[in-house]
Amino acid sequence: MSYSIAIDGPAGAGKSTIAKLIAKKKGYIYVDTGAMYRAMALYFIESGISSEDSAAISAASKDVDVTIKYENGEQIVFLNGRNVNGLIRQEEVGKMASCSSANKDVREKLVELQRALANKESVVMDGRDIGTCVLPNADVKVYLTASSHVRAKRRYEELKAKNIECDIETIEKDIIDRDYQDMNREISPLKQAPDAVLLDSSDMTIEQVADAIIDLCK
Ligand code: DC
Repeated sequence: MSYSIAIDGPAGAGKSTIAKLIAKKKGYIYVDTGAMYRAMALYFIESGISSEDSAAISAASKDVDVTIKYENGEQIVFLNGRNVNGLIRQEEVGKMASCSSANKDVREKLVELQRALANKESVVMDGRDIGTCVLPNADVKVYLTASSHVRAKRRYEELKAKNIECDIETIEKDIIDRDYQDMNREISPLKQAPDAVLLDSSDMTIEQVADAIIDLCK
């Protein structure tokens, strides 16, 4: 029997770091659903489609083949057979993903892929709609959040460590805009499932959050 842990929450709450750690500790597969929306978004950018053109996004989503493989425990996303892991973390791709993920045809395609993965294996899956839509019967559901200020500070430190120029006010504004977009779209908006446990990581370490989730699995 496969077991599933669903972790939803806003951008920068630490979902992927925590989910990866739990997957390692439990020997489950980590499924990063945001990476799938990002791969689709990359296709729309490369095809010259505007983030506002929902008819073109719907039509193009029919041509896209997004698949996942695991190499040494790392999720690799293939876009029409091409490994795009190195391309999907750019800011521009994240912005397009936040817009194109509101599209019904994009979501239908990716939700099907996500459910198929969870049917086959025990998973820790993170995203925005995992507990509410993709895996409504997940064994454990967590809504992981943190204040926008803490999330901006974490992102700022990450970029600074990579010597990338940035300012914390702009980062926090982008985070607030992204939250608004993800929480207010019509289809599967980001929200806490009624049966999800709320965890605020603002004053918690990564280990503390991971341990809290592992305790929920007992
Ligand atoms: O988690 P992320 O930043 O990689 O996600 C990129 C975008 O994809 C995010 O703005 C919202 C969207 N997304 C979604 O709508 N549903 C998911 N399950 C995961 C991501």
